[in-house]
Amino acid sequence: MLLDVETRSLIAPSILAADFARLGEEVEVVAPYIDMLHVDVMDGHFVPNISLGIPVIESLRPVTDLKFDCHLMMLNPDFYFPALKQAGADLVTVHIEVFPNPTEAAKAARSEGLEFGLVLNPPTPFEALEPFVELCDMIVVMSVNPGFGGQAFIADTMRKVELARNLVESHGLLTDIEVDGGIGPENIDRARDAGANVFVAGSSVFRAKDPVGAVQELRAKIREER
Ligand code: DX5
Ligand code: ZN
Repeated sequence: MLLDVETRSLIAPSILAADFARLGEEVEVVAPYIDMLHVDVMDGHFVPNISLGIPVIESLRPVTDLKFDCHLMMLNPDFYFPALKQAGADLVTVHIEVFPNPTEAAKAARSEGLEFGLVLNPPTPFEALEPFVELCDMIVVMSVNPGFGGQAFIADTMRKVELARNLVESHGLLTDIEVDGGIGPENIDRARDAGANVFVAGSSVFRAKDPVGAVQELRAKIREER
């Protein structure tokens, strides 16, 4: 039995798709309509791209009280936990591909007062994460290969969302399940039906002509009858 995901659905736009020259303004416009801000940090090693880092998080912190969901697509993310916390991060998510055993990383995050989550790339089986579910405030299922915004949604990955939802429910946990990559009004219902309750949307929000309207459309799709 799936949890009633509708009541705990959160929209988390990814600033990766925003205009970085106007980042503060773009965030301010959507802030009243969203639940969390997804911040994609890339190091040019774990993924073949470089995005933004600690100074940008710090500059953005006074703009909004929204929770900063910092997706760390990088090697050695734990080294940066103190600086990320200092800059204003609330939640850090790290890749299970970087930490096959993330126990120490989870401890390090919590000792800094950060929430902690684990991310699975499309080719990584759900079993890699399964033993560590109790360490997680959030499980993130990548629905694109990480590194770039604007890629096509990989529908197969929704099977892992189902496995994550079943596992969380069977443990009686309230762990959030986030989908990240290629989410828009045309497929958000599939992520919801699989059991996700946190929806990252980069291009479909910040590249839309009307970002607020785009957020509202996503929310309406989540509320639509199955
Ligand atoms: C991919 C990032 C994402 C993603 C979101 O490396 O983790 O958060 O780009 O952007 P869209 O919605 O454009 O795929
Ligand atoms: Zn992301």
